Amino acid sequence: MNAPRPRSRLAIVGAGAVGSTLAYAALARGSARTVALMDVNRRKVDAEVLDLRHGAMFVPQAEIVGSDDVEVCRDADVVVVTAGAKQQPGQSRLDLAEATVGLVRKIMPGLVEVAPDAVFIMVTNPVDVVTYAAQQVSGLPPERVFGSGTVLDSSRLRSALAEHCGVAVGNVHAYVAGEHGDSEIALWSSATIGGVPLLRWTALPGRPPLDAAARERIATDVVESAYRVIEGKGATNYAVGLAATRIIEAVLKDEHRIMPVSSRLDDYHGISDVCLSVPSLVDRRGVTATVDVPLSDEEVAGLRASADAMREVQRRLGL
Ligand code: 2OP
Repeated sequence: MNAPRPRSRLAIVGAGAVGSTLAYAALARGSARTVALMDVNRRKVDAEVLDLRHGAMFVPQAEIVGSDDVEVCRDADVVVVTAGAKQQPGQSRLDLAEATVGLVRKIMPGLVEVAPDAVFIMVTNPVDVVTYAAQQVSGLPPERVFGSGTVLDSSRLRSALAEHCGVAVGNVHAYVAGEHGDSEIALWSSATIGGVPLLRWTALPGRPPLDAAARERIATDVVESAYRVIEGKGATNYAVGLAATRIIEAVLKDEHRIMPVSSRLDDYHGISDVCLSVPSLVDRRGVTATVDVPLSDEEVAGLRASADAMREVQRRLGL
């Protein structure tokens, strides 16, 4: 159940900061036997492939290939799409919608043609709208086209909570749900720390309380954290690369892992026909179920607001 299938083939579309870091993370972790990188910029993709190959002796056995031709993605088991417009300092993810949805409409048909059996994982922002568009364009079963969603935001939330409470990040179970963006919400009511419901957490000696004000501060920090990274270095790449790698492994290793990925909701707490992140089951077939997490009234209202925001963008783009 745990080793990747012997011939697992991962294709990454886009060799920018996110795509190339993702390729690096996937190689370092031994996530797939073949990593194929595709980018319209041939010089860039060739250089990234060379650089990655030069490290081949230090990572688990893998083949690394690259091209500006979609053929390099042929017969991939998983295709990850990272290509798209770059978020500039001060821009929100939703500001990229028009440009990236146009790109997705252009590239998806060719990718589906060469990798008709693949699971497609969208990473390009705004990922929820991009995922919705990719499902429409591809005509594939919705479970086989999903977005990286709030897996990264949930990791940011867990790290912040772990630091605040003075415990290991692996002891914190908490999800961010909704849009991967400004309207996302932390699911406090189902979160736990070391098996204790987070809302009943008693601070450890010498640590600050995890009261409503602290929770509010942490949630705001999580929403704003990508903006701070982009202001400082122009892009986020390491954490998103690791998060995407973890999702890829859940598919290739058929892990049945619960992760907050972005999928098409069908009457999830009354929300339908929009792609948003909620805790979901990820396995070799893609997203095969959403988990019926109990939500507080405030959390349901937050999810609905996220859904409304996505629908508004979808309407504007004629999706
Ligand atoms: C991130 O959250 C910008 O969506 C990217 O790091």
